[in-house]
Amino acid sequence: MHLFVNRELELRLLEELWRRNNAVMVIVYGRRRIGKTLLLKKFIEGKRGVYLLAEEVEERELMREFSERIAESLNIPVLKMNPIDSWRKLLRLLSSISRDERTIVVIDEFQYAARSIRGLLSTLQAIWDEELSKTKIMLVLCGSIVSFVEDKVLSEKAPLYGRVTSILRIEELSPLYIPAFAPQWSSEDHVRLYTVFGGVPGYLSSINYEENLWDNIKSLVLRKNAPYFDEAKKILREEVREVSRYYSILEAVANGATSFSEIINATGIPRESLYKYIQVLVEMNVLEKQLPVLGKAKPVYRIRDKFLQFWFRYNARYRTALELELEDKVLQHVRIDLDKSLVPIVWEEIVRHIVSYMAKLNIIDITPTKIGKWWHKGEEIDILVVDEITRKLIVGEAKWSKLSLSEARKIAYKLEELVDKIPFKSKEVTILVAAREIELQDKLKDENILVITLNTYRELSTRILRESSLRKHQGEMQAIQ
Ligand SMILES: Nc1ncnc2c1ncn2[C@@H]1O[C@H](COP(=O)(O)OP(=O)(O)OP(=O)(O)O)[C@@H](O)[C@H]1O
Ligand SMILES: [Mg+2]
Repeated sequence: MHLFVNRELELRLLEELWRRNNAVMVIVYGRRRIGKTLLLKKFIEGKRGVYLLAEEVEERELMREFSERIAESLNIPVLKMNPIDSWRKLLRLLSSISRDERTIVVIDEFQYAARSIRGLLSTLQAIWDEELSKTKIMLVLCGSIVSFVEDKVLSEKAPLYGRVTSILRIEELSPLYIPAFAPQWSSEDHVRLYTVFGGVPGYLSSINYEENLWDNIKSLVLRKNAPYFDEAKKILREEVREVSRYYSILEAVANGATSFSEIINATGIPRESLYKYIQVLVEMNVLEKQLPVLGKAKPVYRIRDKFLQFWFRYNARYRTALELELEDKVLQHVRIDLDKSLVPIVWEEIVRHIVSYMAKLNIIDITPTKIGKWWHKGEEIDILVVDEITRKLIVGEAKWSKLSLSEARKIAYKLEELVDKIPFKSKEVTILVAAREIELQDKLKDENILVITLNTYRELSTRILRESSLRKHQGEMQAIQ
């Protein structure tokens, strides 16, 4: 059985659209391996409808396959004998099968079809306006290519503009769901797992959890011809045309170029075109332009997609060694370097997720209206939570180490001194110290310091999973009654 977590919001939105009972067109899109197909297959279960996968084959052959799917799913045997042979006929067929009864039709990997069949989007527009819009269809077009969906489907000039009822971008899973994939691993390894593979379920579900993290990294990523050995190139090749340009930008950022001018220097790409490339990478959620939560500072560019960050830091940098099948040596380096370089930054991010979740559950009394990092003239705060409604602040630091009580206190004092420099008039400030482990942490709690450790991570994660399975169970019970 497949694990299926963290998609309650998406399912609820889709259910609402399903209950409307008039024609709706929905776009579902997002990064490769993010879990679009599984979400839609789960959603369609038990409903009158059909799931169609637009593979890259010739139109006639694809339509023959679609005919079979429709014949089976909707019980129309004659379609098997007389298959349709064009997209135009398919769309007319869909409108006739959904005329009287609510019917969901999912067309997955729609971008392949839209790319290879000239005029498909305009045909869809015409038939939508004439027929489909008057039926009870819920038409879901699903695609993995973010830039394609944003330019060709959602832009004002695109044929489907104004027809789409709802757009759902599928995002990574929250780090709080990571332990569910590897219940037998340590919390340290959950953080490392998230550091390497991010919240991308496609990666997380291809891991062999009987083995340890490092062996998985080796056999999935570092070994020559491993499944994800060329992953960054594959992802870029699908999304963009000038792959080498984008590649060199990501390589530069991974090697420490964090400002616009540093990226120009490292890549030699002219300013104007770099601006455009960066915009595309930001849209894809691959690159992130970080700004301080409050006040102004120069933006810092970072690779946001964790797997790509890992890939460019190790796989691209040590390519020659990996081609020579020296992955064991590279792995030895990764084992030491990962905890020093990438894990501390990702741990900060996890702590921000934990704080948000604690606020959501009312474990802490704050309404975060802004949350992120803050820096100004050499001073830095890892976690700054701002509540502009009741004017509260949480000011925190996250360490990827084990702290003694006195070390933790020292961090807390330092943070207290920084509070005055934050450009925000607050009524109440909470100091947060986060670390892997903190000795005698109850003493800090007595001093009203908020403490987050790997234990907090484990406990919240257990709670979130228990509650969502409870809700699911209740939902199922209601459905039966
Ligand atoms: N919510 C989830 N919880 C746990 N595992 C998931 C979840 N969503 C997807 N997966 C797993 O991740 C893998 C990839 O999911 P899926 O095929 O749905 O991704 P996709 O976005 O359709 O990818 P592609 O763009 O490559 O078609 C599958 O093995 C699936 O079982
Ligand atoms: Mg898919």
